[in-house]
Amino acid sequence: MTMKVASIVGARPNFVKLAPVSEALRKRCDEVIIHTGQHYDYEMDTLFFDELQIPKPAYHLEVGSGSHGAQTGEMLIGIEAALLREQPDAVLVFGDTNTTFAGALAAAKMQMTVGHVEAGLRSFNRAMPEEINRVLTDHCSDLLFCPTETAVGNLAAEGITTGVSLTGDVTVDALRTHTQMAETSSHVLDDLALTRREYCLATIHRPSNTDVERNLKSIIETFAGIANVVFPCHPRTERFLRKYGLWEYAMSHLNVIRPAGYFDMIVLEKNARLILTDSGGVQKEAYILKVPCITLRGETEWVETVEDGWNILVGNDRDKIMDAVAHFSPPRAQRHVFGRGDASIRIAATLVEHALT
Ligand code: UD1
Ligand code: UDP
Repeated sequence: MTMKVASIVGARPNFVKLAPVSEALRKRCDEVIIHTGQHYDYEMDTLFFDELQIPKPAYHLEVGSGSHGAQTGEMLIGIEAALLREQPDAVLVFGDTNTTFAGALAAAKMQMTVGHVEAGLRSFNRAMPEEINRVLTDHCSDLLFCPTETAVGNLAAEGITTGVSLTGDVTVDALRTHTQMAETSSHVLDDLALTRREYCLATIHRPSNTDVERNLKSIIETFAGIANVVFPCHPRTERFLRKYGLWEYAMSHLNVIRPAGYFDMIVLEKNARLILTDSGGVQKEAYILKVPCITLRGETEWVETVEDGWNILVGNDRDKIMDAVAHFSPPRAQRHVFGRGDASIRIAATLVEHALT
């Protein structure tokens, strides 16, 4: 009988990670996708399913936004019901969102095999909601798919050594599959009248940067002092810019655009002079696409990007950001710290192997 895997997703970064894994899985098993509905705007959700050709979810729980407890609780109820009905041989969760943790917890309590794609990442900052999700998800998981050796080491330090495999990062797989298509189909540079290497790409959405008025104001004012900043605006960030009366200022001083689709985003990243971000996925993509990255956080899970000299941590301090914009210059050499683009195949193979034993 063919093995059945339930993949649980709900937020933008989950979709990007699911795409290559789903493709690999469907060559070897049956897959059902459960979508919690954590992200629901067209540009945060459907656009990714369309561009990345992700199969339509079998379940859409329509949980939407809410406080952590309410959102996670509603997800648990919906995921449990879907898993009860599907009885999969294994459940896959991706990354570090509330959807990830809800999926892992629901499945573990039902004594199902849980696989975590992007296991072992740690920022060691418990003020980040994602850090709680990472730790708890890993401790609920049976199969831990680590993108880096650092992640394997982090798990070992917490006593997790069984079921751990070093697969590489599925971000490489996604970029490999889609970069060429993105470059042929995206017109974003023309649409925004951008010249290669003459603009900076900026994204922020971490609560520590967006929800605190002083921090958000300082970041936006700093961006306004940098020439030619393109700013795809996350809905959370838009909400707080409006709340703090900064929206008009941002619109008139930066090139603010709607959240970019994946194809436009790849093209914007690849051709930028610099990337300024607090996103985990964007830090990795900057490294893989060899674009210097300035990270507006105090620490990162993706330590290899900093060790290799392609990423610099500046927090939200104006002077540090401006200094990095003026002087940050990565070396030419780079290791292949995220693997070579076969992480999804390894993940699918390990899952099938596990089901057979
Ligand atoms: C979530 C993840 C974060 C991830 C980010 C990727 C958690 C705890 N956080 O953060 O790890 O980096 O997604 O983008 O899981 N909103 C909309 N439309 C949408 C989605 C959200 O308007 O389609 C607005 C709502 O006002 C909502 C807010 O954004 O309250 C925050 O959304 P939420 O999913 O709670 O967290 P993110 O900040 O998106
Ligand atoms: N992304 C995108 N459009 C945007 C911002 C991000 O397509 O406007 C993609 C990005 O290329 C990466 C993923 O979304 O593949 C990262 O998600 P996000 O920054 O929302 O979350 P994080 O990685 O920080 O959890």
